[in-house]
Amino acid sequence: MSGERKVILITGATGGIGRATALTFAKTGHYHLALHYKSASAETRDALASEVNALSPIPDPDTGATPSTIKVDFFQADLGDYDSVRKLHKDVVAGFQKIDVLFANAGSTLGHQGVKNLVDVPIDIFERTWRVNTGSAILLTQLCLPAMEAQGWGRIIFDSSVAALTGGSIGPHYASSKSAMHGFVHWLAGNVAKKGITVNAVAPAVITGTAMMGTPTGEREREMAASKYLPSFATSLRGSKCFSCLNRSVAKLILCARDTCRSAWTTGRDC
Ligand SMILES: NC(=O)c1ccc[n+]([C@@H]2O[C@H](COP(=O)([O-])OP(=O)(O)OC[C@H]3O[C@@H](n4cnc5c(N)ncnc54)[C@H](OP(=O)(O)O)[C@@H]3O)[C@@H](O)[C@H]2O)c1
Repeated sequence: MSGERKVILITGATGGIGRATALTFAKTGHYHLALHYKSASAETRDALASEVNALSPIPDPDTGATPSTIKVDFFQADLGDYDSVRKLHKDVVAGFQKIDVLFANAGSTLGHQGVKNLVDVPIDIFERTWRVNTGSAILLTQLCLPAMEAQGWGRIIFDSSVAALTGGSIGPHYASSKSAMHGFVHWLAGNVAKKGITVNAVAPAVITGTAMMGTPTGEREREMAASKYLPSFATSLRGSKCFSCLNRSVAKLILCARDTCRSAWTTGRDC
């Protein structure tokens, strides 16, 4: 993938997985970074930008040439509001001219975790979770697709969760928001494959240390470790089977985004 750098839009880029992903993409030297956030402080954004800037310019891994500095910029939006999603897309295109790779990573539990009873999650929390986690990602995809189709190349990656496949330990609103992604990914992957666009979902298991998951201790840690769903991870996800599988998940992401022979044929996968 030498030549002109691709532009990747990462939503939720200042969160745990988003940040790690942004840095990993930056390290490849192949991407300019359009980084979305909702409420991350200026300090948090500056720290991430500094880390990216400290990495660049990176010699092209294929040619050895030292290209110009990686461009990195931040865009604010509440993904629970579709007009904000449209504005986010417009702002990124205005700043970067294009979006080649969309990593729809932002997600929320809407403050409801470890739900024990269905009635504990009001239906409006379900709807808002679906909008933040799923609807906004689908709308962003709709907005990004026409330009990807026109250039005959694009990569769309959703950040799902093991909860989509097992129910998980957060709650029914979250699990249902993630499982909806997979039907969408499979439909769209078949629809746009001939146009040079791949569509995939990564479905990580529990990654502790992020704002969403925190670092469970005591009863919660024991509860998660003993979850009846954990043993099924290996078979259901072919790899994401343990706590702290961040590196593995990010590696899968990079694979889905690149332009190698293998990646070009990887589409419609839940990995
Ligand atoms: N950690 C895990 O165990 C795990 C496992 C499987 C899947 N995932 C998925 O991975 C993704 C990232 O999660 P994480 O663990 O890295 O959590 P995190 O550190 O809490 O990051 C979540 C990100 O989503 C953004 N966000 C939350 N609500 C938003 C909203 N209404 N509008 C726009 N952005 C919003 C946050 O933005 P601000 O911080 O700027 O507000 C933050 O950047 C999520 O989709 C999550 O479901 C996580």
